[in-house]
Amino acid sequence: MTQDSEKRSILVTSALPYANASLHLGHILEHTQTDIWVRYQKLYGNNCTYVCADDAHGTPIMLRAEELKITPEELIASIYDEHKSTFESFRISHDNYHTTHSEENKILSERIFNSLKSKDLIAQKKINQLFDTNKEMFLSDRYVKGGCPVCHEKDQYGDNCEKCSATYDAIELEDPISVISGSKPIIKESEHLFFRLSELKKEIINWLNKANIQEPVRNKLNEWLEGELRDWDISRDSPYFGFEIPNYKDKYFYVWLDAPIGYLASHLNFLKKINAESNFESLWKSDSSLEVFHFIGKDIMYFHTLFFPVMLFESGFKTPDGVFVHGFLTLNGEKMSKSRGNFISAENYINNLDPDYLRYFFASKLGRGVDDIDLNLEDFKQKSNSDLVNKYVNIASRTARFLNKDFEGILSKNLDQPELLEEFREKSKIISDLYDGLELSKAMKEIMSLADKANQYIDTKQPWVLIKDENNKELVHAICTTSLNLFRIITILLQPVIPGFTQKAFEFLNEDNISWKSMETPLTGCKINEFSPIVTRIDENHINNLLGN
Ligand code: MSP
Ligand code: ZN
Repeated sequence: MTQDSEKRSILVTSALPYANASLHLGHILEHTQTDIWVRYQKLYGNNCTYVCADDAHGTPIMLRAEELKITPEELIASIYDEHKSTFESFRISHDNYHTTHSEENKILSERIFNSLKSKDLIAQKKINQLFDTNKEMFLSDRYVKGGCPVCHEKDQYGDNCEKCSATYDAIELEDPISVISGSKPIIKESEHLFFRLSELKKEIINWLNKANIQEPVRNKLNEWLEGELRDWDISRDSPYFGFEIPNYKDKYFYVWLDAPIGYLASHLNFLKKINAESNFESLWKSDSSLEVFHFIGKDIMYFHTLFFPVMLFESGFKTPDGVFVHGFLTLNGEKMSKSRGNFISAENYINNLDPDYLRYFFASKLGRGVDDIDLNLEDFKQKSNSDLVNKYVNIASRTARFLNKDFEGILSKNLDQPELLEEFREKSKIISDLYDGLELSKAMKEIMSLADKANQYIDTKQPWVLIKDENNKELVHAICTTSLNLFRIITILLQPVIPGFTQKAFEFLNEDNISWKSMETPLTGCKINEFSPIVTRIDENHINNLLGN
């Protein structure tokens, strides 16, 4: 068990959701995985801080605000409130939720940019881009369509062809059309700033050698590193919603430059709130003992593993200790898609079901792999009912009624089989390693096998038969107390995953301030509360309602 001196200090982040749309269950998958890990670390006794923010910059946000006839600032403020409350409703326990459109982020982004510049890591190059003369703006790849220069398929985006998979430069498109105004763009030259990634391969490899990275992710990175790395365009021309680059008129930081710096900015903002701002520099200096872990989806690996660590390294900050990558959430075996109706918004879920069912389901599917995770609704219903109701809660409901009815809710001073508790505690060590190593599905399997064991114990002892004979009263008391202690250990083990359900269980057990260590001391001789169902069954209606967006 953690000694105070061994307490780890950990900072954890989830990717910053864009501030132009509501959250969907894919975002919830990511924040749930992160939140479970964070809650585990805290329960275990480590010093863990979880920060996140809205990613508030970029062209899509600027255009969405225009469409709604509001300012980008108004748009991101309203989305911020919505995101924050959605995450809270899923019991995501961010210690701080900030925005990248903040003073802290502006200062840190400028500082990092200036450090890179002073090390001659920023290059200036002229590039040709498509320019929409109606909107008077340069068009990024997703805002222009035209014929594929290779196979001539019409209606392809500016970066690659969906038909033949060719990649190309947007200016090569045949008969390009601006997606924004429908007009024909012209080719225009503009000066851009580039981060000289091509010179930093060695530094990336150094970082990679010491970082905690899953095998499949490491393989992908090595593949990228075998090829040539291209310098990274970090500037955008006006009009753009973002931070202006100091000393460059009408040039803005590309959203992906300031977005990951938003992790540091949210942390700084958190430290300010707890009056510990002065710790920021030492926590982020290159040899700091703070451990930093980023949870992200597989689509944004490139930014988090190639650009971000070296950007931090070259500007004197500590680099990430690990980047944990998860796959994408699919729904009933298919890609989630709003337009095709295969979609569940976070809001629709929460209006129908307690988040803990989904949190448990995600935990039972997530491991260290990066494969996609399928939310099969039938499977979801069955898993919730069989594991949470039939296995977990059943242990308490089968024995609580005797304790409440025949023993006035007071636990026995004696345990029937203390060695069974010892066996559970022994297993908890394995489970704790599984949590720490992100092997959530394996951890859930272990926990459910303990629940099976507890139920088998009750089946064998048959307190409902024993109680018929007055002479067995003491024995039944000890059996029910033992069962309830097994239930309690499982409750502690499940707390990171289903904090709402376990909260109810602890209220029933008349306990608060639980830690991982609490399982070392059994509950005996004390008063428990009246039992009420902690988790109820999911039925077909719940499932049908989920899809009725
Ligand atoms: N704003 C950037 C991240 C900046 S981090 C410095 C972004 N935003 S996003 O809203 O598009 O995605 C946020 C996170 O959600 C990403 O990690 C992304 O992989 C994840 N997901 C988006 N759709 C997802 C699924 N369908 N399933 C699982 N995760 C998904 O990218
Ligand atoms: Zn093509």
